[in-house]
Amino acid sequence: MTTLTMERAGTRTDVPYLAIEGVHQVFRDTPVLENVDLEIRRGEFVSLIGHSGCGKSTLLNLIAGLLTPTAGRVSLDGELVRGPGADRGMVFQGHSLLPWLSVLDNVRVPMDAVFRDTRVQRTQAKAERIERILRAVGLWEHRDKKPGELSGGMRQRCAVARAFAVRPRVLLLDEPFGAVDALTKSALHDELMSLWSSDSETETVIMVTHDIDEAIYLSDRIVVMSNGPRAKVGAIVEVDIPRPRDKRTIARLPAYVEAREQLLALLARAPGEAPHT
Ligand SMILES: Nc1ncnc2c1ncn2[C@@H]1O[C@H](COP(=O)(O)OP(=O)(O)O)[C@@H](O)[C@H]1O
Ligand SMILES: [Mg+2]
Repeated sequence: MTTLTMERAGTRTDVPYLAIEGVHQVFRDTPVLENVDLEIRRGEFVSLIGHSGCGKSTLLNLIAGLLTPTAGRVSLDGELVRGPGADRGMVFQGHSLLPWLSVLDNVRVPMDAVFRDTRVQRTQAKAERIERILRAVGLWEHRDKKPGELSGGMRQRCAVARAFAVRPRVLLLDEPFGAVDALTKSALHDELMSLWSSDSETETVIMVTHDIDEAIYLSDRIVVMSNGPRAKVGAIVEVDIPRPRDKRTIARLPAYVEAREQLLALLARAPGEAPHT
């Protein structure tokens, strides 16, 4: 864990961990992504931002292996992504919890599928991990409730807990906090940061968002996609603010103001519908 914390603090390698090379994605006759190139380092928190419909979810699905690119390649740690795998955990746009299962079982079922070892010691370790993660997102007391009995923010917490529970090496988040109110969102940011910094396996996070301030607070780099059709990586904004970051003071830092201005200018330049925050 110490090594990872150090890595996050700056001593990153220059070898790309996740490489997206010359990716094209065509749906029927519509070219959605064209020539997308992006390299993500191990341990990075990267946000993808761009106008609605430009192809952000498509790019995340390609990384998850839920889609195969029409052309180009996606590789993780030197290996071609050929399909979905437990090394990449996804939180979909909309929480996608199983409505007939309790909070506890929504987290436990995917864990059982990934960690099949049923020896007592392993089962005990799994149970402890579930409890730790549910406590971290404030859901331990609500573990027996079904998704229908939870607030929107609690459902999102459960979806994030479920994704973390299987120890993915890369966590893919598709607008995970898009549908929650501002106060809940702020609490969820801190829960995500604490899970990310305490969870030694999940090092790299890629998050789609419409929210500029959320992107700056959480990310090392922000990838701005150009407008579709034929979207590609338009620009990359570096967020040069040390961690841990303090939400109460961050907005006054010159690096924050600069990143915000850059992002506003980049997003305003793209024609079409303004992104909703
Ligand atoms: N499976 C699919 N089949 C056909 N078209 C799709 C499919 N998935 C996405 N699209 C289209 O691709 C474009 C990009 O979609 P998406 O990646 O969901 O955008 P974003 O997440 O940036 O809002 C949209 O025009 C959408 O309608
Ligand atoms: Mg989307």
